Order: sequence, then C-alpha cells, then structure tokens
Amino acid sequence: MTTREIFDSMEYGPAPESDAEARDWIATRGPDFGHFIDGGFTDAGQGFAAKNPATGEEIARLTQGSAHDVEVAVAAAAKAFSKWSKLPGHARAKYLYALARLLQKHARLFAVLETLDNGKPIRESRDIDVPLAQRHFYYHAGLAQLMDSEMPGHAPLGVCGQIIPWNFPLLMLAWKIAPALAAGNTVVLKPAEYTSLTALLFADICREAGLPKGVVNIVTGDGATGEALVTHPDVAKIAFTGSTAVGRRIREATAGSGKSLTLELGGKSPYIVFDDADIDSAIEGLVDAIWFNQGQVCCAGSRLLVQESIAEDFHARLKARMDKLRVGDPLDKCIDVGALVDPVQHQTITRMVEANTEGEVYRAQVPMPEQGCFYPPTLITGLSPAAPLMQDEIFGPVLVSTTFRTPSEAVELANNTRYGLAATLWSENLNLALDIAPKLAAGVVWVNATNLFDAAAPFGGVRESGFGREGGWEGLSAYLKPKAKLTPRKPVAPVPAPDTVEAPGLDRTAKMYVGGKQARPDSGYSRPVWSKRGQLLGHAGLGNRKDIRNAVEAARGAAGWSRTTGHLRAQILYYIAENLSARADEFAARLRALTTTSAARAEAEVEASIARLFTYAAWADKFDGGVKSVPIRGVAMAMREPVGIIGALAPEEAPLLGAVSLIAPAIAMGNRVVLVPSAPYPLAATDLYQVLDTSDVPGGVVNIVTGDPADLAPALAGHLEVDALWNFSASDQAMIDAASAGNLKRVWAPEGNPDWLGGDGEGRAFLEAATEVKTIWVPYGE
Ligand code: NAI
Repeated sequence: MTTREIFDSMEYGPAPESDAEARDWIATRGPDFGHFIDGGFTDAGQGFAAKNPATGEEIARLTQGSAHDVEVAVAAAAKAFSKWSKLPGHARAKYLYALARLLQKHARLFAVLETLDNGKPIRESRDIDVPLAQRHFYYHAGLAQLMDSEMPGHAPLGVCGQIIPWNFPLLMLAWKIAPALAAGNTVVLKPAEYTSLTALLFADICREAGLPKGVVNIVTGDGATGEALVTHPDVAKIAFTGSTAVGRRIREATAGSGKSLTLELGGKSPYIVFDDADIDSAIEGLVDAIWFNQGQVCCAGSRLLVQESIAEDFHARLKARMDKLRVGDPLDKCIDVGALVDPVQHQTITRMVEANTEGEVYRAQVPMPEQGCFYPPTLITGLSPAAPLMQDEIFGPVLVSTTFRTPSEAVELANNTRYGLAATLWSENLNLALDIAPKLAAGVVWVNATNLFDAAAPFGGVRESGFGREGGWEGLSAYLKPKAKLTPRKPVAPVPAPDTVEAPGLDRTAKMYVGGKQARPDSGYSRPVWSKRGQLLGHAGLGNRKDIRNAVEAARGAAGWSRTTGHLRAQILYYIAENLSARADEFAARLRALTTTSAARAEAEVEASIARLFTYAAWADKFDGGVKSVPIRGVAMAMREPVGIIGALAPEEAPLLGAVSLIAPAIAMGNRVVLVPSAPYPLAATDLYQVLDTSDVPGGVVNIVTGDPADLAPALAGHLEVDALWNFSASDQAMIDAASAGNLKRVWAPEGNPDWLGGDGEGRAFLEAATEVKTIWVPYGE
C-alpha cells in the first residue's frame, strides 16, 4: 500500500515490528533447545517443533522431557531448596527485583518472541503480557521483603511443580514462579508444548540475575512430561493452569499423595449488559473480553447476556464494531486479532461451531489472511441457555449471546454454568451493579470494565474453574503452610461390647440431625456405644449415602445463612456457647464416660469448646477482605465469601472439641455444614443437637450424620453439591481426593491433626479454608 493510497482510504498502513532480535536469540541459543536444569541448559534431545502459528514456519526445536529429565530437575530443585528456603526475605526479594528489572530490560525481545511463538498481536504482548509479568516480579519482590514480618509462623512447601498453558506463556510463568520463589520454594516448571520459547528466554535471565542454581528449573515437553512432574514423590505442590479435563486428571493423579494443589481451570464467563449501560463502552469492552488474545483466555467474556430491550440495537452495533477489527500478521502493530496458537485449536473451534444447530452465526466482514492459523471474529445470537455452545468453553474468538429481562434472570443465566471463573457486568447504576456482583458465582467480577489483572488482586475460580488464588497475599499463602505441631491421624476403634452385660441400661438411640430435626437413619440400623467400663451409653445411627444426600439437601435449603450478616452469626455462636456452658457438667460427664478420660481433661475439653465458639463468634465479623492497591483509578475489592456447603469429617479424638472446632469456623463464615462426627465416640456430637436447637441455629445450617466414615466419606466427597471437604479423621485420604475430583471440590486435609486444646486447633487456617476470595473491580471516573 502506498502512502497516497493510505491517504485516500484512511486505512491503517502496515506497521511491522522487526523480529530480527528474537530470531537472533533463537539462532544463538538454539535453534535446538534442551531443558534448563540446575542453572544450565542441557543438550537438546528428541523432541518437537516450535512453530510460528501465523505462518506455520518451524522456528525452533524443543526437547520432549522424559521422566528422567523430570527426576534430575526435581533433584536439583530439592537440593536448592535447603538453602533458598532459609534465605532471609530480603535476599530473595533482591533476586525477584533483579528478575523484574531484567524482564523490563529485555521487554521488547520477550514481546516479539512471545508473538512469534504464540501468534498473539504484538500490541498485546508488548502492552499487556510483558508489563504484567514485570509487575508480578516487582510485586512479589515486595512480598518476599515483607513476608518475615507479615506472615510469621509460615513455612514454604518445598519443590513446586508448575504446569502452564499456552495462552499467556510468559505471564502464566510469572504468576507461578514469582510467588513460589517469594515464599521460599524452588520450582520445576513445564511450559505448554506449543509455547516454550519465552520460558527458555526467562531461564536465560535467571542466569543473568545470578539466581542460585536449581531454584528455577524448566523442563519442556507435552502432557506426558507434565504427568511425570505431577506424580513425582518429591514434589510438594502442583500448581496448574489449563483445561478442566486435565485439572481433574491431576486431582486424581495426586490423590492421597499429600501434595498441595491449586488449579486454575476453564471458564464460560458471562458478560452482562443492562439496558442502562454505557453501550459504546460495553461494546469496546467486548472487544477486550472475547477478541483479546483471539478469545484464548480462561476468563474471556465468552457468554454475552444482554437485556432484551436493547438487544437488537446492541447486536447491530456490535456487528458494526466487529467489521472494523483487523485480523492478520501478529507482528503488525495495527492488528487487533492475531493467529490461533495451533491448527489443532483451529480444528476444535471449527468443529464446535459447525456442530451448532441453533441461532444465527455472524462472522466479521473483514479481510482474512490467506494462510496461517486465523479464525474470524464470530458472534452467535439466539442460543438457548442449554445449547452446547452456551455451556462449553470454545476457547476461541467466538462470542455466544442470549437475552434476559430482569436482573434476577440475568443472575440465574449467568450462574447457569458448571464454571465460575469471572464475570463482567455493565450498568451505569452502581447500586444495581453492586447488588448483582456478590450474587455471581465467580472468583473475579469486573464492573464496567473487563479483563483487568494485577499482581495485587487475587485471581482464581470457584466450582469447576478450580481452586486457589493467584496474586496478592492470598496467592502467596497458597505457597506456604502454617508451622503447626501436628500429629499423624490414626484410626481409633470403638470400645467393644463387654463379655457380659449386667444392666442393659436404657435404649437411647441418637438419631441423625438433618435440617434442624432429628431423623432416623435410612438404614434403620444403629450400633451400641459402650463405655470402657462395660456400660451401654446409647446407640448411634448408622448413616448411609441416603442420609448424606438428605443432609446435603437440607444444607442446600439453608442457603439464606450465607447471606446473613457476620454480626448475626456472631450472636448465634455466642448463644451456642452460652447454652453449652449451661450444660457443661453434663457434657464433661459424657466425655468421661465415652473416652475414659480424666475429669480434668473432660472439663478442659468442654471449656475449650466454649472458648472456641467465642473465638469464631469474634471472628464472624472480623475476618475481613481488603481493598487492593491496583494501578487503576478505582478499587479492587477482595471480598471473603463462604465456600458454600462444607462436608467435615471430625477427628476421632477430642469428640466434642473436634466437632466444634470444625463446625464453628465453617458457620461463622456463612457456610452450611454436614458433619460426620468421631466414629468411636459419636455421642459427644449428637448431644449437641439440643444445644443447637435452643440457640437459634436455622435448620439445615448444621447437619450431623453418624456412622462408619468408610461409608460416609466417599458419599460426602463424591457429592456434586458439596463444595469443600475437610478431613480430620483417619479416613482414606486417597479415596477422598479421588472422589472429590467430580466437581473439583476444595479438599482441606492438613498433614496431621493439631492438639485441639492448643492454639493450632483454631485460627486463620480454618477461616481461610472456610472462605473464598472474590475480587470485584470497580473503576471510577469518566
Ligand atoms: P491442556 O490443559 O491440555 O494443557 C495445559 C498444560 O497441561 C500444558 O502444559 C500441557 O502439556 C499440560 N498437560 C496436558 N496433559 C497433562 C497431564 N495429564 N498431566 C499434567 N500436565 C498435562 O490444554 P490444551 O490441550 O493445550 O487445550 C485444550 C483446551 O483446554 C483448550 O481448547 C481450552 O478449552 C482449554 N484451556 C484452558 C486454559 C485456561 O487457562 N483455562 C488454558 C489452556 C487450555
């Protein structure tokens, strides 16, 4: 195009970015790359090609990491851990700061290499990916600096295995490596097979920064390499970002291993436009929501929900805007939409869209490149909520749309998904927006903006979008564990029946406690509970899967509890404490009879239970969220929300205090609980029914199902409406982890149990497990 023609047409002329420096780096360091292990690059081995998706050209060759490579890398990371973890925070901060500075120094090289390898527009890699990655290292240099004073009593986990996707190769690396290193862990990172080059360039700057050998290791390869990392016994934590299917497999593969796990998975995030929205801004927002990075964004606003009264006009304006998008050479600075990462993704998207039989498909009327992996910006309107394209993640530049009439219908449609990563809403009425935001099942909500990210703002999902947060203090804590004194859990057998029973005693069968009422066990069976002195103390119902289902149903019915105020919950917890206190002697006597403990110990357990209820009554309105210092004109509010329905397996020991230690933090934070009490000593918990009844605890908030945990734990862990499972019993952890993969519920099972009478039996760790952070971004001003 000549300058004259450009003047005539007022079209953008081409503005290509030079790739010479990036190609030079590839030629010098490669073009055949090995892994980065123990501070050096290994020789290149058998592997696969790295391609430029915009042209199909092979630009480098990568090594397929074997189980042996993973072994060597994990060993290097384990060796480095002993020194790195003991460095003062300030020493680690200096390294993280150096990495941030070097990312800044080589910013252009990183941006061009990213675009060459991934196909994303240079404008995005230059202005978004690379600056956000730098910011992440700066921010975490600060966390490392402050950690010793701000998070005392915490320890790093060890070697972290980190597996990242191809959509934000450098940025996801930064999200993973910066907090892990700040917290004192060492890392083996596996980049995605389509996009490993910026990770290898990052390895280069680790050397330049003088990072101690083995602190960061990078092993390239495909899913098989990832699997070797996931199953390596010396890896203490797996942090994964990628598809929900692989996340689920990782949950299963790590079952029972004791590894920490955070999963950041897929989404089908709603983009809600109310009729009073600033329409032009909402349309511009959609360009960022679904055509940013060709829609290959886990939190892409891929499901447009637009208020019916403005839908026609909105779609018309949207189509006009789509026709102005420029699709083409990603290295051209004027390009809006680049290439998809690989022909495989192209085929997947094409197949999904072709399989759709509903609605109306509109493709942007724009010139498309003749070759390369490009897909036109697409809008599909008129889909029913259950249509596969409304439910399944397309992970491409395809927006699906439907309409709603009322705000409550918008919430219902928005939440009609198995995912819960992000949501966007547009309305000039902040009152409405701030009413809707807390009602959305999402870890991140953007009000009148979209796809805002920052190192200070926690990011992550609920439901099948995974668990754990990245960013902020919250993200750092996912790489730390409390330094608590724990004792391994072990089963305690019930007291056997005596040989001869002298006085049969009264037949008192404790029932289940479901929905605020006592309920007979579905099985109709119960078991006698004996004291060690041969006295029959009562019978405890033998619950089964059906009882668990009823209890979860009741908990679901008590959803209103999650909307109550902290103040109200505090009052009720104080009331429980007061009523327990009134019957303290009775409970102490019961504990003595059940466990043949000393009178002093039984009294201490009751007193500690009362104190614990006070503790969580106190916390109910004080476990605050925060307003994060993000670099926008506006606020990012990190709100703590209840997790939902928590299944809790109480410890065998301390049968009253153990149960109270789980119930109290859970309900203080607004959760509903299904508790399986101590298997050998269930009657300490069943005695609580009357205390709960007289303390104004609404029916369904606390449900108690007695029985054999071997029967009840799988039912609870496998139940799709239970959001989290806490295990402090000796139940089979591997089974619990594997069963929980179904709906990717949050499993909390520390390495052992605390001394329940001591300080480790309560506190922040319990409150954190009982809550999930939702980050609500509200920019302000014009
Ligand atoms: P993927 O989930 O298979 O790959 C992500 C990472 O996991 C890669 O590094 C891969 O090598 C690794 N991996 C694959 N199988 C593994 C295993 N069994 N154990 C350990 N690591 C394993 O994603 P993929 O195949 O690249 O894309 C498929 C679909 O996943 C996309 O179409 C999209 O829907 C979704 N996706 C979602 C992402 C998100 O951020 N939510 C990111 C990437 C993909």
